[in-house]
Amino acid sequence: MIVLGIETSCDETAAAVVTDAREIRANVVLSQLDEHTPYGGVVPEIAARAHLEYLDGLIRQALDTAGLRLSDLDAIAATGGPGLIGGVIVGVMTAKAMAAASGLPFVAVNHLEGHALTARLTDGVDFPYLLLLVSGGHCQLLAVEGVGRYRRLGTTIDDAVGEAFDKTAKLLGLGYPGGPQVERAAAKATDPGRFELPRPMLGRPGCDFSFSGLKAAVRRLVEELPQPLSEADRNDLAAAFQATVAEVMADRCKRAIRAFRADHPDGTALVVAGGVAANKTLRARLSALAAREGLRFVAPPLGLCTDNAAMIAWAGIERLRLGDSDALDFAPRPRWPLDPTARPAIGRDGVGAGRKA
Ligand code: KG4
Ligand code: ZN
Repeated sequence: MIVLGIETSCDETAAAVVTDAREIRANVVLSQLDEHTPYGGVVPEIAARAHLEYLDGLIRQALDTAGLRLSDLDAIAATGGPGLIGGVIVGVMTAKAMAAASGLPFVAVNHLEGHALTARLTDGVDFPYLLLLVSGGHCQLLAVEGVGRYRRLGTTIDDAVGEAFDKTAKLLGLGYPGGPQVERAAAKATDPGRFELPRPMLGRPGCDFSFSGLKAAVRRLVEELPQPLSEADRNDLAAAFQATVAEVMADRCKRAIRAFRADHPDGTALVVAGGVAANKTLRARLSALAAREGLRFVAPPLGLCTDNAAMIAWAGIERLRLGDSDALDFAPRPRWPLDPTARPAIGRDGVGAGRKA
């Protein structure tokens, strides 16, 4: 089975060709970084227009790289949500048009399911596994029991972790997107232990996350330092932030591993996915945790952690193999939780938050 994947839910326009033998025949990603950088974040309207402008060319490029024509494909898969709706509409409409013109099946893929199943494409991981999904809009721990079968064990009660990286980068005067910039600055820290930050949720029951207090603490520290920040201050702060995030993540994952194992003694791995999974400090920390817990640790290669279309094609293949596809009247979804039964996380004040869920 050979499937074309299309991804347009945020600020990456991407097309890929993947086979059910776990072969990535083409994987083209065009980052819209230059378009959004002047605004310090993704501007939805600009993103949608850029997807519209570049997507056709990228699909052609992916097919050319794979040496295939439309008629050689078995299906077209596109991100159907969640994400910035203008972009999702561009990808879904393009995929539907191609499916209608060729008579091929169309699959509307949940972007989060794309991230969630990537480890099966890259490493052939078997169900069930524990997934830490960490991106710009999401921060969740999920038991992945099968295709379309996800049980949420924890989520953030405020910001997503990628968002915390991006906001911290902004506070430190680093560019956008923040994650890679913070990682680069932290690597240059001369005194990484100089600043101490609060470690939100550390040791608390459950597996939920919180990052807004950490961000506020970074802001306070920045305000106390001489302006503009020296490079040394900036690097040391970035290192403190990154180390704190990794420590909190490891704590939450440790609890999740215990909860996951109680229900799934046959659990195969701790898998990390999403853009923040590209962070090497976080990967090292989680890898050590998994080793201590006697669990296999799987982290996809960096380019398949951040947004891409190979994961969308693969998730499409997983669903097609189960005989599943979508009708051409599928409506793009700005929100689309992987575990629709999960309740909002309970915040410190006892009020449900979980707005990112
Ligand atoms: O999965 P993704 O590419 O897009 C979403 O679906 O959100 O994730 C993007 C997020 C951004 O917040 C970005 O700052 C973060 O992932 N990110 C990183 C790193 N690379 C990307 N965060 C920490 N360290 C990195 N190396
Ligand atoms: Zn993503």
